[in-house]
Parts: sequence; structure tokens; C-alpha cells
Amino acid sequence: MSRQDEAPRYNDVERTDREYTLGTWTRQRDFDPTQIVDTEGPRIVTADGDSVLDFSSQYVCTSLGYDAERVADAVAEQIREVPYVNPGWSTEPRATLSKKLAEITPGSLKKTFYSTSGTEANEVAFKIARAYTGKHKILSRYRSYHGATAASLSASGDPRRVAQGPEIQPEVPGMVKGPDPYAYGSTLDPDESLAYIDEMLTLEGDTVAGVLVEPLVGSNGVLTPPDDYLPRLQEIAHDHGALLICDEVMTGFGRTGEWFASTLYDAEPDIITMAKGLTGSYQPLAATTVTEEIGEYFEDNLLNQGHTFSGHPTACAAGVAAIETYEQENLVENAREMGEYLKAELESLADRHPSVGERRGVGLHQGIELTRSEDERVPFEERSDKMTGETTVLDEVGARALEEGVYFYTSVNTVVVTPPLTITEDHVDEAIEALDAALEISDAKMEA
Ligand SMILES: Cc1ncc(COP(=O)(O)O)c(C=O)c1O
Repeated sequence: MSRQDEAPRYNDVERTDREYTLGTWTRQRDFDPTQIVDTEGPRIVTADGDSVLDFSSQYVCTSLGYDAERVADAVAEQIREVPYVNPGWSTEPRATLSKKLAEITPGSLKKTFYSTSGTEANEVAFKIARAYTGKHKILSRYRSYHGATAASLSASGDPRRVAQGPEIQPEVPGMVKGPDPYAYGSTLDPDESLAYIDEMLTLEGDTVAGVLVEPLVGSNGVLTPPDDYLPRLQEIAHDHGALLICDEVMTGFGRTGEWFASTLYDAEPDIITMAKGLTGSYQPLAATTVTEEIGEYFEDNLLNQGHTFSGHPTACAAGVAAIETYEQENLVENAREMGEYLKAELESLADRHPSVGERRGVGLHQGIELTRSEDERVPFEERSDKMTGETTVLDEVGARALEEGVYFYTSVNTVVVTPPLTITEDHVDEAIEALDAALEISDAKMEA
């Protein structure tokens, strides 16, 4: 039952919001927003006065928590000085941010194109890869999400693409999909999945412009690849004349305990896309960063892409201040250290709860996959359940944790555990206690 069945529980704001706003990825009947009126550290505060520890960082994006004063000040100052000019002009925050991104991204990544969402960052990456290679296909993987618009959703294997029939948005041609390194739930082991991709590229006749992957898959189940997977994938892509495009929209900016997950896995992608943590989500900003060589190509070739808000000064000012905050507060190191602590705590939770099939992930990008049958690895939630609007066991686990005061995002049979990078061991303890209580629900629903 959703909250509108109990109408009096909505306050004026929530009621107005429901009446005049279209909610995302949902039948509007199920759009059930709770008003947030305040934030403190890694917590959000509801209009009812409930303080909720955010162990999801919303959509894995508020990596700085909610008190990053430096970012708030930078945005306010920039709005007063130069609130906006079109991308044909230069501003100090854009120049500084671009240089900074060249420094913290791996390999020879150098030049950045700005947009305002992870979706657009990927769409831009496709265009650049196609223009640069002269080929047109994009190879991605089934367990992936790359964005909501035509090409980025067509490149996604996510149930959100499957739910969207051709009457709403026909799929963009040239998007091919391969298997994932998902040892727990796939019939192929990660090595076989890599060999399969190699063969696909051959069979596609080397017509693929870019191989697009989330280095450590996020909303499709927090899938951790073997350590050597990404460099091997890079080699395979290059052998077939394709670029490696790493979608670091979720994994970028310290989440895995490195600035980028590509670095964690010793890969040097040709293109990295990013958003979310780039400003700690204090401003909508996304980026597509390409190697020096690709940048050079566009000296004499048209880069046929642009947006009114590309390189928006206020958003870039937030990006610069966010990176300074990650650096000065040692948040990347904290993600690594807290990640180790969180990992140990989740492993012990998995030992106590038979419905936890597997813990996965690195740094503060972790998750637990649930199962109704330990031996058979039977999921509680099929991928297709995500779009039905029906309440799943995973939803119930999430709701129970929320009652205990901790917010976790659940997706595709996985409880995603991705807190802000600012957390302490006490926060981990608090979250584990809530999860401990919530997992009693899934334990009780296991097959006898
Ligand atoms: C890996 C990945 N890529 C792309 C996107 C799309 O980003 P946005 O929602 O900012 O368009 C997301 C969003 O969750 C994501 O997780």
C-alpha cells in the first residue's frame, strides 16, 4: 500500500508536489514523496522531524554529505560575480576545473566537454567515439545503466530500457550488448564473459566505435569485476579498433577509495564520463573527458555538440570546490578506510543472515545481494520486477531499515550500500544495526 491510500498523512507540500509534479520512473499513483526540510552531515530530516542517516547518498551522488560549506560558498560567490555566460566565453571556474580533471583522471585524459547529467555525458561520449573512430556501434553490457535518453537508454541493459517499448522510444540502432563479469548470478564466469565480448567484436566485423562499461556496476547490482578484467577489456577493445569508454558517473570522485575506479583497476580509458560526485551533487554538472589524442583530432574536425548550460560557471565553481573538499578532508582516503570497515561489518552480517547471498563492492561502493535459497542462489526480485510497481521483499527490507532510521537504495535484488564519503565508524555501526533488523524480513521469507 502506498501513502496516498492514507491521504491524511500527506502534508500540504507533499500533496501539492504530487498534484503538480510528474514523478520519475513510476506510475504516478505510486509517486510517494516525503518532504525533506533539512540536512545535517550525512543525514536528511523529514517534515515530520525524522532524522534519517543516508547510506545511499541519494542516488549514489551526495558524496560530500550535506554540509560542504566550501561548495555552498563557492556557488553563492559565483552567482554574484558571473552567474552565467554562454560556453563560447571563458570563465575561471571552468578553466580551473578542466585542468584539475586532467590531473586527477588516469592516463592521458586531458580535455573535457561539459553537460548537466550523466545521461548527456554518455551521449556525448558516443558522438565523440563515432567521430573519432569513423565507426558507429557501441558495445555495452546487459547489467548496466547509462542514462535515460534515446542513445544512453538504448546502451543500457537495465530493466528501464526493457520496460520502454518502441511506441515510446524506438531503440537507437547500432547498440550491441555483451555479458557481464557476474560470478554469483550468471552462467558465464568473468573470464568467459570477456572472451565472449572479444568474439562479439570480431563477429561485428570491427564496426564498434566504443566499448562502454561501468568499471564497477552500480544500480544493476554492484558487480565487482576481477582485478585484471578492465585492463584486459581495454586491450581487447583496442585490438578491435574500439575505444574504451568508462562510465564513472557513479564510481568517480573517490567512491571506490581511488579518484576513479579505472585507476583502481589500472586501466587508462580513452573516454571517462562523470557526474554525480563531480559537484557532490550540489549543482547539476556532468563531464566527458577524452585523451589528449582525441582532443587533438577535434582541432581540425568539427565537434558537433553543444548545450546552453555547457560549462555553467556556477556548476563549475561547485566542481572546483567539491574537488578541493575531497582533497582537504582526505575523503578519498576515508572512503578506502571506511570501506574496509564496512566490508568487514557486511561480511559478518552476511554470516548472520542466510538471506544474504553475497557481499560485493569496493570502498564505499558496496552492496549485498539477497537470496531466497542459499544453495540455489534464487533471487527474491527478478530484474523485471523493478518496473512493475509491485512491492518486493527488497522494498520491504528497505522500508524496515528506514523505520530504523537509515536509508538504503535497493535495486535489482541488491541492497546498495553507498554512504557519503564523510562517514565515520559510528555511522557504519548505526547502519549495520538497522540492516541487521531489516534482514530479518528476508530471512523469514526464505524457502523452507
Ligand atoms: C553509471 C551511470 N551512468 C549514467 C547515469 C545517468 O546519470 P543521470 O541520472 O545524471 O542522467 C547513472 C545514473 O544513475 C549511472 O548510475
